Amino acid sequence: MKEKLEALKQKALDDLAKVSDAASLEQMRVAYLGKKSELAAILKGMAALTAEERPIIGQLGNSVRTAIEEAFEVAKKHVIELETAKKINAERLDVTLPSKKTDKGNLHPLTKVQAELENIFLGMGFSIAEGPEVETDYYNFTALNTPEFHPARDVQDTFYITDKVLLRSQTSTVQVHVMENNKPPIRIISPGRVYRSDAVDATHSPMFHQCEGLVIDKNITMADLKGTLETFAKAMFGDKTKIRFRPHHFPFTEPSCEVDVSCFVCGGKGCSVCKGEGWIEILGAGMVHPNVLRMSGIDPEVYSGFAFGMGIERIVMTKYGISDMRLLYENDTRFLSQF
Ligand code: DAH
Repeated sequence: MKEKLEALKQKALDDLAKVSDAASLEQMRVAYLGKKSELAAILKGMAALTAEERPIIGQLGNSVRTAIEEAFEVAKKHVIELETAKKINAERLDVTLPSKKTDKGNLHPLTKVQAELENIFLGMGFSIAEGPEVETDYYNFTALNTPEFHPARDVQDTFYITDKVLLRSQTSTVQVHVMENNKPPIRIISPGRVYRSDAVDATHSPMFHQCEGLVIDKNITMADLKGTLETFAKAMFGDKTKIRFRPHHFPFTEPSCEVDVSCFVCGGKGCSVCKGEGWIEILGAGMVHPNVLRMSGIDPEVYSGFAFGMGIERIVMTKYGISDMRLLYENDTRFLSQF
């Protein structure tokens, strides 16, 4: 019996040392350690032994079992390592393979410039306000000091839903909403879509984008407007940019002006981008008219403010030297992918 146990142990250890896959390992577990294993059969035979032999063989049987169990654990570890290595090999990724080409999108130049614009003004402490695109005649005109029959309504003819409801022709409408709902100090910009019943050509579209600005506080002067717009122009068009104010008329500001930036291509000498002028008009601005403040519940004896409004398309076209506005709306990726 002793020899049988020794031989069994040797055979089991030899076999387990060679095993290299999980299936064979399981077979060996059943064969050497299972209920129906040879070891179990031998140990069952112990009943026939004499009282002196029994403990000796019993002890030997236990040590053989322990030895096989230990060898089994070692083999199991080995098999796991082998199988893991095999799996890693089979699933290896060849990173040197060229990838499939995918078309990567990019931001539309209008979106990019709008984000840039927002960042510049957020950096100056402005926040962003929104207003509806479908407006009443009151917010689009009347509250902006442009009553019915005022000739300034003609140049901003838009799309009417009813007599009194229309698609806003300017983001200046947001000034009114903000003043009605907030107490000064107010410092906002409001980018968004506007509409006009204009025929499509290289510089007109029935839908385009504007960005409004409004600052209301005590002691706000035109100098604040100038400093703010100069900071904006340098950030948007480059450090060397100069600005100039030309007198103009808007019903909702007094005094009013149009603002030009020095041409960033020729620096002011005159070139094809600025059409020989050296300057490019980018926005309208002025000191908020007392009537506008009063109508929205702000006392013009206490507060003053400035406002400005720019066309985002105009900024995009100026910045990138685009001569036809239609390119911005045609969704031609050959054009759009350049930005
Ligand atoms: N709303 C004007 C337009 O669409 C632009 C404008 C001019 C806005 C002067 C202003 C401003 O806030 O002060 O032509």
